Amino acid sequence: MVYDIDLSDLQSAMTPKGYEALSIKTRYLISYGGAGSGKSYSTAQKVLFRILTENGHRFLIARKTARSLKRSVFQLFRDIISKWGLSDLFIINLSDLSITCKANQNQLIMSGLDDVEKLKSITGITSIWIEEASEITQEDFIQLDLRLRGHTEHYKQIIMTFNPTSSKSWLKARFFDNIDKDATIIHSTYLDNPFLDERYKQVLHDLIGQNKNLHDIYTKGIWGDRTGLIYPEYELIEELPEDYEFKTYGIDFGFNHPQALVEARVTKDTIYVKELFYKSQTLVTDLISFMKRDGIKTDSIIYADSANPDKIQTIVNAGYRRCKPAKKDVLAGIDHIKSKKLYVTADSINLIKELESYSWKLDKNGEAMEVPAKLFDDALDALRYAVFTGEKIKISIAQAGRRKHDSFKEYGSAGGFSGYDSGNMRGF
Ligand SMILES: Nc1ncnc2c1ncn2[C@@H]1O[C@H](COP(=O)(O)OP(=O)(O)OP(=O)(O)O)[C@@H](O)[C@H]1O
Ligand SMILES: [Mg+2]
Repeated sequence: MVYDIDLSDLQSAMTPKGYEALSIKTRYLISYGGAGSGKSYSTAQKVLFRILTENGHRFLIARKTARSLKRSVFQLFRDIISKWGLSDLFIINLSDLSITCKANQNQLIMSGLDDVEKLKSITGITSIWIEEASEITQEDFIQLDLRLRGHTEHYKQIIMTFNPTSSKSWLKARFFDNIDKDATIIHSTYLDNPFLDERYKQVLHDLIGQNKNLHDIYTKGIWGDRTGLIYPEYELIEELPEDYEFKTYGIDFGFNHPQALVEARVTKDTIYVKELFYKSQTLVTDLISFMKRDGIKTDSIIYADSANPDKIQTIVNAGYRRCKPAKKDVLAGIDHIKSKKLYVTADSINLIKELESYSWKLDKNGEAMEVPAKLFDDALDALRYAVFTGEKIKISIAQAGRRKHDSFKEYGSAGGFSGYDSGNMRGF
């Protein structure tokens, strides 16, 4: 079969910095900078370009956790392949997250660094992309570097994309504080991305004066510090647990902002959360279709952004009769979440990104102002709605229950709207 692909217009389909990176052949290519600068998109384009124009490739696409790959880089490759009209040219394997080019048998294989068995089984690697490289350790990097020894007539390269979230990162010591002649560093910010939407640009621009650290990392793309985070402590888990006291869903509406839906399972001391939906330019009807497809039961307890009663009504009309407006008290909600141990499923990529940047607004003297800086907070708002409202209603019902029935459990299971889904309820 002969494929005739026109790549002559590639420059106009790429950011200028992405296009510059296309011809860089050093062993290490460090693409770092602010949010939304096109690092991930451009790197996927470069990898696809090499797959289409060179032979004998087996690219490893790695991220810290396997569960984060499907929704992020794997989806990105699928989107670009489809946008370039090349879907017929590739075999996309959803179960092992691999992509094979039918024309030359070049392969892209995605693996989480936590999937040690899979990593071991991938041999003959000819280039690597490490997405969100700031998540991995230097030891992980050294192991990957050692694995890059496949035979190819073309250059072998490790591309690393990341935001400079901590000046204490090994990446800074390894590639920035010491000059490595085998490394090329490309810095980019939102200003380098002509494809970025205006709202996103505005959010990044408006960080000025809110929080210097966030402004440095996400707007200017320079090294900052992982200090002043509102939720610095959380742990990753594979899946939500089956043992919990109540389960709720939280929705933050948005159109230009992402619309976010999370599921929370809560015990007395613990919150487990999973991001289910996170997408901008979507309507509430898209969200409802997703909820039905995803099997969210119509009797689920859902707390949604109270600023949009019409959207809540649309959800109720779609059968989710227990969709209610959420409590909006931001500070009390944050305090409530902080009072428990937080576990996040590893595939909640946007929620994790938000956790890594959610910080207080600072005044001129650098003092926290008890208002979160406006950056990425859609999934975290959804989490707050789910957990805080759920718990508040539960507490007030519990109090009423104690007065009336002397038993919260009895009251909670009395049917109708109880404000929580008891799950495998253990009671207090
Ligand atoms: N060449 C391109 N063509 C079309 N859209 C693009 C292109 N490059 C980037 N974009 C769009 O710009 C947005 C930001 O790009 P991307 O996600 O690659 O940024 P990033 O630098 O990886 O951001 P972050 O630091 O948050 O990971 C995305 O919505 C992406 O689809
Ligand atoms: Mg990215």
